Amino acid sequence: MTEAYEKGFFTEENSVEVVTGRNAGARDERLKFAVGVITRKLHEAVKEIEPTQDEWMEAIQFLTRTGHLCNEWRQEFILLSDVLGVSMLVDAINNRKPSGASESTVLGPFHVDGAPELPMGANICLDAKGEDMVISGRILDTAGNPISDAVIDVWQANDEGFYDVQQKGLQPDFNLRGVFRTGADGHYWFRAVKPKFYPIPDDGTVGKLLGALGRHPYRPAHLHYIIKAEGFETLTTHIFDPDDPYINSDAVFGVKESLLAEFRKVDDPARARELKFDSWFWEVEHDFVLAR
Ligand code: BEZ
Ligand code: FE
Repeated sequence: MTEAYEKGFFTEENSVEVVTGRNAGARDERLKFAVGVITRKLHEAVKEIEPTQDEWMEAIQFLTRTGHLCNEWRQEFILLSDVLGVSMLVDAINNRKPSGASESTVLGPFHVDGAPELPMGANICLDAKGEDMVISGRILDTAGNPISDAVIDVWQANDEGFYDVQQKGLQPDFNLRGVFRTGADGHYWFRAVKPKFYPIPDDGTVGKLLGALGRHPYRPAHLHYIIKAEGFETLTTHIFDPDDPYINSDAVFGVKESLLAEFRKVDDPARARELKFDSWFWEVEHDFVLAR
């Protein structure tokens, strides 16, 4: 017997109504809504593309291979979401900030829990490789007041564009990672080396897709930050080198104008000595404003 909610036999014309009508009894309204929207958009795409059976099978195999690449430390589906701009869109929707607050960007796959908490000024570069850099700034609220006890978790790639976790045994564990805690003045500073642009993991399905689309896999040089403070929204963000060759074509669309920092080359022997650097160094100053 035909139930009232059933929309009849499936045709090319009524495909959406037939499929979504079948979900009328869903217990979870949010799930029903999401599956309904996805069904509508997906059918619209299929009707516009009109794939051959072979093309449809190729798409299924692409997704199957993408799934097979996923394991404890690799998430090819997130990478796919990243290069399609979906990760940045979800981030934007979930992090609409009050005016004046710092903007967020993607977390990425290279954050590691448990990086050491270090005294302000510590050098997070443990293998002395790369061009010296000092980074400083303040953690503020939207009224410009310093936030004390803010916890700043930073990580970055080295001067060859690799994170420590990508070069286990070559780089020391926790190289170019550290956690810092602000005092009453909200000020932070640490030493590191200038990061370099690097490719996102491109030896899988996502890399192949980028190649086929005529896209490169590079992210412009950046430092990652997660900043937490009691009573404030956690901020997951980066600062970028505006002079990087890939600054206008980040493979994952993570660059925002407000996240461009200035990387100044400083040739001042007295300051270099103070900072325990051998000669010239890079200096970056960047404040972060947290939303309540
Ligand atoms: C990263 O910046 O670490 C990253 C972000 C998205 C994809 C791959 C890497
Ligand atoms: Fe990164």
